[in-house]
Amino acid sequence: MTMDATRQRFLMCRPTYFAVDYAINPWMDPTAPVDADLAVRQWERLRQVYRDLGHTVEEIAPVAGLPDMVFAANGGTVIDGKAMAVQFRDPQRADEAPAYRAWFEAAGFELYDPKHVNEGEGDILLAGGHLLAGTGFRTAHASHAQLQEVFGYPVITLQLVDPRFYHLDTALTVLDEQTVAYLPEAFSPGSQAVLRRLFPDAVHATMADAEVLGLNAVSDGRHVVLPEQATDLAGKLRDRGYQTIGVDLSELRKAGGGPKCCTLRLRQGKASR
Ligand code: ARG
Repeated sequence: MTMDATRQRFLMCRPTYFAVDYAINPWMDPTAPVDADLAVRQWERLRQVYRDLGHTVEEIAPVAGLPDMVFAANGGTVIDGKAMAVQFRDPQRADEAPAYRAWFEAAGFELYDPKHVNEGEGDILLAGGHLLAGTGFRTAHASHAQLQEVFGYPVITLQLVDPRFYHLDTALTVLDEQTVAYLPEAFSPGSQAVLRRLFPDAVHATMADAEVLGLNAVSDGRHVVLPEQATDLAGKLRDRGYQTIGVDLSELRKAGGGPKCCTLRLRQGKASR
């Protein structure tokens, strides 16, 4: 296994207007208290971790009234200099899509508009030369064909079955070009078989890890940034030679989000992967 870290370029959105005002996934309870200042401090720490690892963090301006805009992974899918904008399932998040689209346009990416519900890197992950595409809760199966057409990577449809793991990035994380970690039970039997076939050496996470959003992790191929509560998973990753960095995003988790949700990978072109 090659354990070389790849310098990354990320897009993040400060949680200035973060709140849990509505419930569109089972993690969200609008009656439970949220510490908005703590959410910002925890997010700043995540941004610092990336900077300390040598990654570039770009920022999109947060928009008042869009409390979930902090989850930049849902803002698009960006590969080889092409940016596919998003279309949210829920009306509460709909206005985030044009904000992210405008950012991609200004940043010079080649833009594509989604024809169906598509929640970006929340459900679409590049791994092992395939686009792993989740469906079942958010991103529509119909959007998978468009992804393949736009990006030219074979799309592997993965059926999510547990409402707590409603986005693919809550159930599976890409560790490097060849390896993923995932929670088998979050997928249909057929999708589990597909994952075993594609990734025979994958790390299998436990329910306890997934329940703290441990799989919502960000890897540069060597360092894995993950929720500090996911201790079993961190141990398994260290056994495989990864360096793990735990972060606490307790407040954002009340909206169903972790480190990966806050982080959109910007893949400039083929040369920089
Ligand atoms: N409250 C947000 C939603 O339900 C959380 C999104 C988390 N993002 C992610 N990439 N999993 O849409």
